[in-house]
Amino acid sequence: MGAEATGPVRLWGGRFESGPAETLARLSVSVQFDWRLARYDLLASKAHARVLHKAGLLDHGELARLLSALDGLERDCQSGAFRPTVADEDVHTALERGLLERIGSLGGKLRAGRSRNDQVATDLRLYLRDHARRVVARLIELQTALMDQAQQHLAADPPTPAPGLTHTQHAQPVLLAHQLLAHVQAFARDVARLRDWDKRAAISPLGSGALAGSSLPIDPEAVAAELGFDGPAPNSMDAVSDRDFAAEFCFAAALAGVHLSRLGEEVVLWTSHEFGWAEIDDAYATGSSIMPQKKNADVAELARGKAGRLIGGLTGLLTTLKGLPLTYNRDLQEDKEPVFDAVDTLLLVLPAMAGLVSSMSFNSERLARQAAAGHALATDLAELLVRRGVPFREAHEAVGHLVVWCEVHDCELVDVSDEDLVKVSQYFTPDVRGVLSVPGALAARGTYGGTAPTRVAAQLAELRDRVQRDATWAAA
Ligand code: ARG
Repeated sequence: MGAEATGPVRLWGGRFESGPAETLARLSVSVQFDWRLARYDLLASKAHARVLHKAGLLDHGELARLLSALDGLERDCQSGAFRPTVADEDVHTALERGLLERIGSLGGKLRAGRSRNDQVATDLRLYLRDHARRVVARLIELQTALMDQAQQHLAADPPTPAPGLTHTQHAQPVLLAHQLLAHVQAFARDVARLRDWDKRAAISPLGSGALAGSSLPIDPEAVAAELGFDGPAPNSMDAVSDRDFAAEFCFAAALAGVHLSRLGEEVVLWTSHEFGWAEIDDAYATGSSIMPQKKNADVAELARGKAGRLIGGLTGLLTTLKGLPLTYNRDLQEDKEPVFDAVDTLLLVLPAMAGLVSSMSFNSERLARQAAAGHALATDLAELLVRRGVPFREAHEAVGHLVVWCEVHDCELVDVSDEDLVKVSQYFTPDVRGVLSVPGALAARGTYGGTAPTRVAAQLAELRDRVQRDATWAAA
């Protein structure tokens, strides 16, 4: 923060004989974290100035001088020529000081008809609506990285398979593309959640004043429209105390963080020596100061770890809001750091994960070898018998015996000879071998949402369309 230019601006000077105690001032100050709202506060101030003019409370010349001073202040904030000082309590106080420094007492006219209570709620909504779009743009980059990998492995001949796991045990083979798109689906829900959140966030608190509205003839509808909101808040008391939009945003961010942590954990597993499914590009890997052979997935681990602070931010904010009586209470100042941290965290993690995913190389041969391992085609065999009229219960049992036979003879299902097959069960005629292949098993999973290559291709096409629409929204 820069040096103090003039005396501190106190918004309630008239009523008080002494200034605040040093300890109060230090507890009270929020400008060190709410300064990032300056751009939005200035936008709202310009809209408010026009509304005061429309109400006949500012003449034409006053409006022009105010707007040009606000524009100048905005430029100086951007360039860093105007900075908050240690004496500015919050972003609103700092900007009022800047205005007073430029145009003197005319600056004080802007305070009419509004309060920091409706102002701060408005600023935070503006900030978050803007940043929700930035977060969505970064989510889309990660989705695109995953979809590009999926597309490449779907186009391979044959399409790259992978062992599908439940309980982290081999279950059934899947397409690698199908697994990658499963993550894309989760992120698509995150995007949808933010877009849906935006509809509820698009309500303007300005005009609510401190809590009860205003006796001045200001027009909340006009101010709302100018700031891109759908309309003004229908209840001024609710408007200055409602932080649902902040909590909901934190939830959307926390759930995106949980999804990132799951992808992160998968990358950690995939790139372990034991799995060996994939290798991280050097640019996204870290080494060890002592072990020369190490290549670590720190990006993925940080993505996994950062979910903790996102969940913590949400929990902290909900705890702050719980039990607060109407209307504005100073506790609400605690709403900002968790949402700012949520935004910062996602904007930090998402690009790193997008880079990690797009530069990662999968070991197709190893994936293909592992896809059938662990008797992963057992269900296919049982379902074949069902198609031949065998009750599933019996089919399940027969295949179960075959698996035990394999365990005893230390081999895989696909390796059992025709003679041995029929020795285990009369159902296992040599022609059952047709389904004991990974490509056959994959092609057979043709139900909607299944892992058959045709289904996965359709899924990918649908996701590409959806992401395209989301990108248009984010750019608006
Ligand atoms: N810095 C305050 C906040 O973030 C602004 C509103 C202050 N209002 C008040 N009545 N003290 O909530």
